[in-house]
Amino acid sequence: MTQGDIQWAKIYQSIVDVPTEPRCSVKPFLEKYFPNVNGQTALDAGCGTGRNLTYLLSKGFKAFGFDFIPEAVEHTKEQLGIDLEEASRVVKVGDLRERFPFDGPFDLVVAYGCIHNIEARANQTAYQGIQNAFSEIARVLDGIAYVWVKSPKQLEVGHLGEVIEDPGVEGGGKTYRVESSGKENGLSWHIFTKPELYALVQQSGLDMMAEPKEVHSVSGRKAGIKDRWNWEIILKPQTHL
Ligand SMILES: C[S@@+](CC[C@H](N)C(=O)[O-])C[C@H]1O[C@@H](n2cnc3c(N)ncnc32)[C@H](O)[C@@H]1O
Repeated sequence: MTQGDIQWAKIYQSIVDVPTEPRCSVKPFLEKYFPNVNGQTALDAGCGTGRNLTYLLSKGFKAFGFDFIPEAVEHTKEQLGIDLEEASRVVKVGDLRERFPFDGPFDLVVAYGCIHNIEARANQTAYQGIQNAFSEIARVLDGIAYVWVKSPKQLEVGHLGEVIEDPGVEGGGKTYRVESSGKENGLSWHIFTKPELYALVQQSGLDMMAEPKEVHSVSGRKAGIKDRWNWEIILKPQTHL
């Protein structure tokens, strides 16, 4: 395990108040793109403790999720409030850097705040892991993907940490080791530039449905970093005429 992977495990081993509300931007997104849900399929990639996954199920999606930290998966199973055997089918341990543990096709894929956390490991750079995550979204997607990743304005609100990987993509972003006084200390964050996002999406066989939107949010928890800047991107499979 890498430093960031170990930090995620520590976070989920010591979590006390497991959040139950979905991320606030997920509700308006669903109202706009999925106003009438009736058994559409959804995947929550990097689901953490399952706050978005639980909401997707409550809205009528046939939803599934995965995260690479077993403790996060166990917390998610508890949130679902269904029997353990069924919960084990719904949420699995899986890694964004590898083949996803579900094949779809999914009407919706949510990857909220997780792809920028992808860290380098033996024989795979962080950037290769990120490319894999986008390709896997494309592989399982038959509808719309909703993705949140870190944007460059994050670097303007205070020191983030040292650069640990520069993929050397012209006009592209870099990966940082987060330095903070809170629980996010030691995680890795890739800061994505807009042209880099377009290139990643295009290479993966996906298209943007709208211009990436740079969104500010403030963390209410003791994560160590209060101001957050993210790109909200909405994707669909490329259409070939
Ligand atoms: C900020 S949390 C967001 C969790 C969830 N999507 C949400 O909105 O609450 C980032 C999540 O990404 C997961 N993660 C980081 N790297 C991962 C990887 N390589 N594969 C799968 N999950 C990963 C972490 O375990 C963590 O649960």
